[in-house]
Amino acid sequence: MTDSGQLERYQGEATIEKVASLSRRRGFVFPTSDIYGGLGSSFDFGHYGVLLSQNIKEAWQRSMIQERDDMVALDSAVILNPQVWVASGHVGGFSDPMVDCRTCKLRFRADHLGQSACGKRPSRHPGEHSECDLTEPRDFNLMFETYVGAVREAASTAYLRPETAQGIFVNFKNVTSSLRVKPPFGIAQIGKSFRNEITPGNFLFRVREFEQMEMEFFVPPADADEWHRYWIEQRLNWHLSLGVRPSHLRVRAHEADELSHYSSATSDIEYLFPIGWQELEGVANRGDYDLRQHSEASGTKLEWIGHEERYVPYVIEPALGVGRAFLTFMCDAYDEEVVADRPRTVLHLHPRLAPVKVAVLPLIGKDSAMVERARPLYEDLRRSLSAEYDDSAAIGKRYRRQDEIGTPWALTIDEQTAVDGTVTLRDRDTLEQERIAIDGAKQLLLDRLEQPWQPRA
Ligand code: GAP
Repeated sequence: MTDSGQLERYQGEATIEKVASLSRRRGFVFPTSDIYGGLGSSFDFGHYGVLLSQNIKEAWQRSMIQERDDMVALDSAVILNPQVWVASGHVGGFSDPMVDCRTCKLRFRADHLGQSACGKRPSRHPGEHSECDLTEPRDFNLMFETYVGAVREAASTAYLRPETAQGIFVNFKNVTSSLRVKPPFGIAQIGKSFRNEITPGNFLFRVREFEQMEMEFFVPPADADEWHRYWIEQRLNWHLSLGVRPSHLRVRAHEADELSHYSSATSDIEYLFPIGWQELEGVANRGDYDLRQHSEASGTKLEWIGHEERYVPYVIEPALGVGRAFLTFMCDAYDEEVVADRPRTVLHLHPRLAPVKVAVLPLIGKDSAMVERARPLYEDLRRSLSAEYDDSAAIGKRYRRQDEIGTPWALTIDEQTAVDGTVTLRDRDTLEQERIAIDGAKQLLLDRLEQPWQPRA
C-alpha cells in the first residue's frame, strides 16, 4: 500500500502538448464541438476544469473583494450599447495589422511575421515570409459583431465585449451614487470577453472566447503612480501565494510603442510558459482616458465630487484571463516523477486550487466493513470540502489517478480502522503517510487548507 519514501524526483518538463493531453485525458478541458472536428482554439471545460476555474475565480474574489474594504463587485452585460465601443476607442483602434499571403492564402499578424507567439515562424506557413507574396498590412478589428433585434442593418450592429473593463467605466456613476465608496476604491468584475484573434493557439493561452478577471481602481490623479506600483506588487504576490514558483514569474514594463491606445503605463506580470516568457496579467495605468471619453460621448459627467474637491479619477487596472491563469497553474504544477521504480504524473497544485481536496479510499473496495466506514466519512467530508470516493481498482492505481488531477490528500480506510478508529492520510507531494483519528480528519484538512503552502523549488 505504501509508496512513501520511494520518491525519486526527476523534472518531467511541462510542455503545452503534455498539459493539453492530461487535461483532455482526465476531464479538465476538451476541444469544443469535438465530434464535428472542433472549432479553432475553442475549448470546453470538463468537471475538473470547472472546479479548477471556480477555485481560481474564488481566490481572486477573496483577495480582491472579500478581504478588502475598498472594493465592490459588478457583473455587467456582455452586449453593451455600441456607442460604448466607439467612445472607448475600440471601434477605431482595437485592431491588429494583418497581411495575407497571395500564394498560400493564409493571413498573419504583420507584427508576428517571422515570429509567432512561441518565437518561431508561424508553423502552418509553408514558405519563408521574406519570399512570400504578401499584401500590405491592413488593420483587422478584433471585435465580434452581432445584431440586436429582428432587423439586420448597420444601425442594429452591436459587439460582443472584447474586455469587461468598459462595463465598469459606464457604471461609474451608478456605483458611486448607490454604494458607500470614495477614491481610492475599486470595482471588480469577472466575465466572458470575446476577440476574433487572428493567431490564437497554444491551448488556452490565446483563444477567442475567454473569461477575464478585471478590476478598475479609481484614485486621485496625483496618487496614480504610487497605486500602480502597489497593484503590480499585490498581483505578483497573489500568484506567488497560490504556489507559482518565484523563478517562473517576472514583471516587465511596456515600451512606449507597445502601449494600448488607453494606457499611459503598463507592466506585465510574465510567466515562463513552456513557450517562453509571455504575458500572464497586465497592470495598466489608464489615466483618466476612459472616464473622459465616456463623459464626452454620453454627456454624463463621470467624476468624483467630494466636499471640497472635484476631479476625474485616474484608473489602475489589473487584468487577468481565467484561462491564462489556469494554463499557468497547470504548467507550474505539472511534474513527472519516479516512485518505487514506476513513473507518475502529478499536478502539484496549491491545495486551495485543487479541484478535489481529498479522496476517500477503502483499501479493499470489496471489503464491506471498510466500505461501511468509508462512505459516512466521505459523506461528512463533502459537506465542507470537495471530496471524491473511489473503491475501484488497485490502491496504487487510485492514488495515481488522484495524483494526476492534483488531489492533495487521500484518506485510506484499512483493517486497522475497525480496531482503533484511525485512517491513513497520504500527502500527494511528499508521499508521506500518517495515521490520524477518523473523527478529527475533517477539521485537520480544513486547518491545512488555511495554512501557507510551500511550492516546489
Ligand atoms: N482591459 C484590459 C485588457 O483587456 P489585455 O492585456 O488585452 O488587457 C488582459 O487582457 C488579460 O486577459 C491578459 O493579460 C490575458 O491574461 C487575458 N487575455 C487577453 N486576451 C486573451 C486571449 N485571446 N485568450 C486568453 N486570454 C486572454
